[in-house]
Amino acid sequence: MKKVLMVCLGNICRSPLAEGILQSKVNADTVFVDSAGTGAYHIGNQPDQRSIDVAATYGLNIKNQRARKFVVQDFEEFDIIYAMDESNYYNILSLARNKDDEKKVQLILNEIHPTKNLSVPDPYHGGNQGFINVYKMLEEACAVIANKLS
Ligand code: 4NP
Repeated sequence: MKKVLMVCLGNICRSPLAEGILQSKVNADTVFVDSAGTGAYHIGNQPDQRSIDVAATYGLNIKNQRARKFVVQDFEEFDIIYAMDESNYYNILSLARNKDDEKKVQLILNEIHPTKNLSVPDPYHGGNQGFINVYKMLEEACAVIANKLS
């Protein structure tokens, strides 16, 4: 079983989409996908309605997800930890205990734009178009990830 963790700040906009999209592309018997946030603001909450809506447009149901905070234990639980943006990336790295932990952390868009260190923009304070853009980027990245995992 490969275990993949998607991480953003609130765990209500970007990483729930990344979780839902990757789950839809892999075999649940061999790949486990979860998501978390580096911040604690939204623990226990459903994904943002705009993420729920854009996912539904593409046939994905993400509304049963609940936000949780990233914990150090996740370094043991997961094989790959994808950060949505550079801020998330450095926040996760700051919790790493050793080189093995550090090696698990990747910027998700490096899967489609290797070494460019691009960020999935935080859509929280914007409109619906931002969520559609985020969805499209994550769809592309998760296609590459799913391919690698299969
Ligand atoms: P996310 O978006 O990190 O993609 O879930 C955000 C959601 C909430 C906040 C920031 C980003 N917030 O500051 O409450």
